[in-house]
Amino acid sequence: MNRRVSKAIFPVAGLGTRFLPATKSVPKEIMTLVDRPLIQYAIDEARAAGIEDFIFVTSRGKSALEDYFDLAPDLESALEQKGKTELLEILRSTNMDSGTIAYLRQHKALGLGHAVSCARKLIGDEPFAVILPDDVIAAEKPCLQQMVEAYQDTGGAMVAAMEVAPEQTSSYGVLDVADQNGAVTKVRGMVEKPAQGTAPSNLAVIGRYILTPQVLKNMDSIGRGAGGEIQLTDAIAQEITAGRDVFGYSFKGERYDCGSKAGFLQATVAFALARDDLRDDLAGFLADLHNGQQA
Ligand code: UTP
Repeated sequence: MNRRVSKAIFPVAGLGTRFLPATKSVPKEIMTLVDRPLIQYAIDEARAAGIEDFIFVTSRGKSALEDYFDLAPDLESALEQKGKTELLEILRSTNMDSGTIAYLRQHKALGLGHAVSCARKLIGDEPFAVILPDDVIAAEKPCLQQMVEAYQDTGGAMVAAMEVAPEQTSSYGVLDVADQNGAVTKVRGMVEKPAQGTAPSNLAVIGRYILTPQVLKNMDSIGRGAGGEIQLTDAIAQEITAGRDVFGYSFKGERYDCGSKAGFLQATVAFALARDDLRDDLAGFLADLHNGQQA
C-alpha cells in the first residue's frame, strides 16, 4: 500500500465530562492553552506532518469549533485599519482553505473507535492519521511528523507510545512488546485499560495514530470493549490477530494530558514558560508562590 499520509481524523465528539461545567457550553477542544485553542495545536502538528485533508468527527454542541475555522472578515478589516499587522498575521495563520475541512457527526458517544469509523467513507483506500487534540505534545520535531517519517520504513499500523508509571497503565491502551528497535517497537498484542497489575508492559498508547483502512473494517467485527465503548485499540489489535504488522513509536517530546485538569494546568504553565513574552512574569510569580508556601 501507498505510504503517503495526507488525511487526518480529529475525533472531537467526546462529552468532556472531566471539565464540567465548562464543557456544558465550551467544547474541550476550544479551551485555550495560553492563547490558542487545543485544536489549533493539533492542526499545526498535522500541517507540519504534511496533512492536507482535515476530518473532524463532532457532536451536538460543538458549533464553536466549526466557527473557529471560519474566516473572520470583520475582525481582519478592523485589525487592518488599526495597523495591527502582527495580530492580523496570527489570525490569518489559523485560516483553513475551503474544501480542506470536513465535519461529520457522531450521533452518540459510543467510543473513540466508533468516532473514527464515522469517517470511513472519506478515507478511501489509503493510510490516514488520527490525532486526539487533548493530547498536546511539545517537541522540536512535531510528533506526527516523526511518526510519518518512521512509517515510510515500517508500513503497517503505528501508534504513538510512551512509558507510564505501572500504577497508571489502567488508564491507557497498553502494548505487549514483541521486539524493540530504537524508537520502533513491534507489537504482539494490545489491551485497553488493563486491570491493575495485569498490563503486559508499561508502554502506553497516546493520541497519535497512523492507520490503514483495514482497521476501519475491523470495527464491524469488534463489540463493545473497556468501559462499554467501541475501542480503537481493539480494532488495531485485530490487525495483529490477522497477522499484520502493528508498531509502537516512542516519540521524542513532552506529552501533556489536556483531557485532565492537572495535565491542562501543567501544559498551561509549561507553554507559558516557553514564551518570551510571559516567561519572566510567570516564573517570578511561581517562585513567590513556592516561597510563600515554604514560609
Ligand atoms: P476521552 O476519553 O478523553 O473522553 O476521549 P471525553 O468524552 O473527551 O472526555 P471525558 O473523559 O468525558 O472528560 C478521547 C478522545 O476521543 C474522542 C474525544 O472527543 C477525545 O478527543 N471521543 C471519545 C469521541 O470523539 N467520541 C467518543 O464517543 C468518545
